[in-house]
Amino acid sequence: MDAQLEKRVPLANLPTPIQYYPRISETYGAHISVKRDDLSESVASGNKLRKMEYVLYEATKAGADTLITCGGIQSNHCRTVAWIAAKMGLRCILLLRGDRPETRQGNYLIDSILGAEARFYSAEEFTDINAIAEDLCKKLRDEGSNPYYSPMGASVATGSLGYVRMVKELVESGQQFDKIYCALGSGGTYAGIVLGCQHFAYGPSIHGIAVCDDTAYFVNELTRIQKEFKEQYAINLDLEHIEQFIDDHYVGIGYAQNTKEELEILHHLAKTEGLVLDPVYSLKAFIGMLDHIKKGSIKPDERILFVHTGGHYGIFPKGNEFQFITL
Ligand SMILES: Cc1ncc(COP(=O)(O)O)c(C=O)c1O
Repeated sequence: MDAQLEKRVPLANLPTPIQYYPRISETYGAHISVKRDDLSESVASGNKLRKMEYVLYEATKAGADTLITCGGIQSNHCRTVAWIAAKMGLRCILLLRGDRPETRQGNYLIDSILGAEARFYSAEEFTDINAIAEDLCKKLRDEGSNPYYSPMGASVATGSLGYVRMVKELVESGQQFDKIYCALGSGGTYAGIVLGCQHFAYGPSIHGIAVCDDTAYFVNELTRIQKEFKEQYAINLDLEHIEQFIDDHYVGIGYAQNTKEELEILHHLAKTEGLVLDPVYSLKAFIGMLDHIKKGSIKPDERILFVHTGGHYGIFPKGNEFQFITL
């Protein structure tokens, strides 16, 4: 594993800081620190950059001249891949779910500024996106180029290595925590943290808050990543009792949708101590964590590390939903 962790293309500004939030801790009644992975880069910030360092290593080894990936119009992953392609001088093709937007906003605006090409698919077509991507790769190969396809969210074993490496940073920081919290979107971040804690015998329990789908879905996804680790790297990811650490009660009114109450919490955290979360992932995970404090499953003296996985561009398309704030 240690040798495997070196096989990356260093693009992120690492290690990211671990910051303690005294006023938020005081308000909610726990010791809350945040691993600021939103500071891993500027335009490419967030968890996908950590994952893509490892995926890009494989793409580079394969001699790729084109990066292909997929996601929603406001995908943070697509934005990160678009930046990496621009940085590395590669072509980037994004396969996006939905109609071509009339106005460019948030992540999609950044994608276009970075020179990515976008193709659009209906929700129904998108269910076959891996097959669509394979066909596209074949077509591009026939035309003489060398594409590399990174599946949605880079939530494959290779991408999850990025979060094994994040645990290495925690170990090297010398800091100890009782619990780590993060958002679960496609599962790769959580899988990497679990594996990293096992590999480095680093103590905290790891809690994933689902922002879409349910616990059964994530157990399935983690089992897939576990299988990949075994087949590709002969590494054992222990998932025993994992369902007890996944909480699917905070998806709210749906993926990427927010209630006013949720956005009020985002506003509260931002104005209390400058902690600005993204509405789609880290906000819902943070709300889950706060509710665990309220319900007593996090004790007042416990040291919590929340992983801020980035995604700030997701705030901008929601401008109208923040009308409740008076300036
Ligand atoms: C900003 C942000 N945070 C968290 C996640 C969830 O990470 P993962 O897909 O690895 O579960 C994602 C992507 O899904 C994301 O874009």
